[in-house]
Amino acid sequence: MDASSQMIYPYENGHPDVRTGDDSLFSTVEPAPPVEIFALHKAFHEDNFTVKVDLTIGAYRDEEGRPWVLPVVRKIEEEITSGNNISHEYLGQLGLEELSHAATKLLLGNDNIALKQGRAFGVQTVGGTGALRVGADFLVKCAKLKIFYMADPCWPSHHLVFPYAGFAICRIYRYWHSMKKCLDIEGLLEDLRAAPQGSVVILHVCAHNPTGIDPSKDQWIRIADVMEERHLFPFFDCAYQGIASGDLEKDAWPVRYFASRGFELLCAQSFSKNMGLYSERVGNLTLVFKDPKVIPNVRSHITMMIRGNYCNPPRHGAGIATRILNDPKLIDDWKNQIKTIAIRIKRMRWALRTKLQELGTPGNWDHITRQIGMFCYSGLTEKQVKFLIQQYHIYLPTAGRINICGLNDKNVEYVARAINEAVLTYPSEENDNQNRRRIFSP
Ligand SMILES: Cc1ncc(COP(=O)(O)O)c(C=O)c1O
Repeated sequence: MDASSQMIYPYENGHPDVRTGDDSLFSTVEPAPPVEIFALHKAFHEDNFTVKVDLTIGAYRDEEGRPWVLPVVRKIEEEITSGNNISHEYLGQLGLEELSHAATKLLLGNDNIALKQGRAFGVQTVGGTGALRVGADFLVKCAKLKIFYMADPCWPSHHLVFPYAGFAICRIYRYWHSMKKCLDIEGLLEDLRAAPQGSVVILHVCAHNPTGIDPSKDQWIRIADVMEERHLFPFFDCAYQGIASGDLEKDAWPVRYFASRGFELLCAQSFSKNMGLYSERVGNLTLVFKDPKVIPNVRSHITMMIRGNYCNPPRHGAGIATRILNDPKLIDDWKNQIKTIAIRIKRMRWALRTKLQELGTPGNWDHITRQIGMFCYSGLTEKQVKFLIQQYHIYLPTAGRINICGLNDKNVEYVARAINEAVLTYPSEENDNQNRRRIFSP
């Protein structure tokens, strides 16, 4: 029996036999839970209240609260769509080679030894999520890996992408110390030490979503030591390169470090945030191996997997990213625009923290400026969040994650006053966050 004939149709082992000829084949399908973040975003747009604030989806907003098309992106887009430059021809399964090559270099660094030795390559994917999925498919089908570990708490899509790709066992490693509001490095290392050999560990390269807390260099070294000792496989997720520190090189350090130690690894890259190309779905999957000889076979399987999934990735956004990444002058422009994003985020972190401290809001708010990237893991409880939504029309997920980009000089005081009111109305209890963290558990 070959692998395909073993695939099990969902009802093969037990379609309810009460079904009559009149019943729909799908009458027993249970509702799936809503995707909270998109449901909240929609609720925000449908809310007619004049003073409302959207702190939901991780997308950049300018000082006026408007989405920002990066000037460098706008310029290239105009070039591409003008005259005879536009093309809607299919790309191949692996997308634009000039994009995947430049993206892989951007991640690993120009002088990377794995690149020089031909041990690394990239493939264009449908956003960062697509890169995670192609990588997960590859690890299940070609390396027969079954267990994956994700941080607690984590970006919820990890918990969908990996099981849907066929990972049978999902485990969590401790990440956030809810009492100290920092990285629980000892808990993290203890959990990795207990992980079975061959487990895949998802690691956020920078600007961890949702906590905004990244390991220090020393802590990354300790993580690498344990992963090497336990033979764990690193699958990096790089959705915010440049957004964390304002510096593309600095933000890529963890992946470069693991690669320099000789790890085989995968890394999903997204250009949604750092180029503002959210709906264009521009991503790249970088793969690093010990031996360049494996690459032709690996590439052939990835080609087949993509063909059997979405056939080929989209061209438009990829064309824009390709132009930027392959032109030193455009890269410089892009870097400056990334800095604008990072600086505005830092400024709004300070503004929120300062306002809360001025109001004397109970609790310690230093973590707002200790965290980096788009998100602030505020520590607000579920009751406090509901209060903010219902009383103040300030939208954020129940886990208390704030998209800092939704703040600006005009609304930060309103948000701080509302948080103050929420905390006074529903004082935080010792174990509030502890209990809530379990939502992210499998
Ligand atoms: C941690 C993390 N990984 C991956 C992604 C996926 O990005 P994309 O929109 O490119 O699929 C996101 C987007 O929010 C993210 O936060």
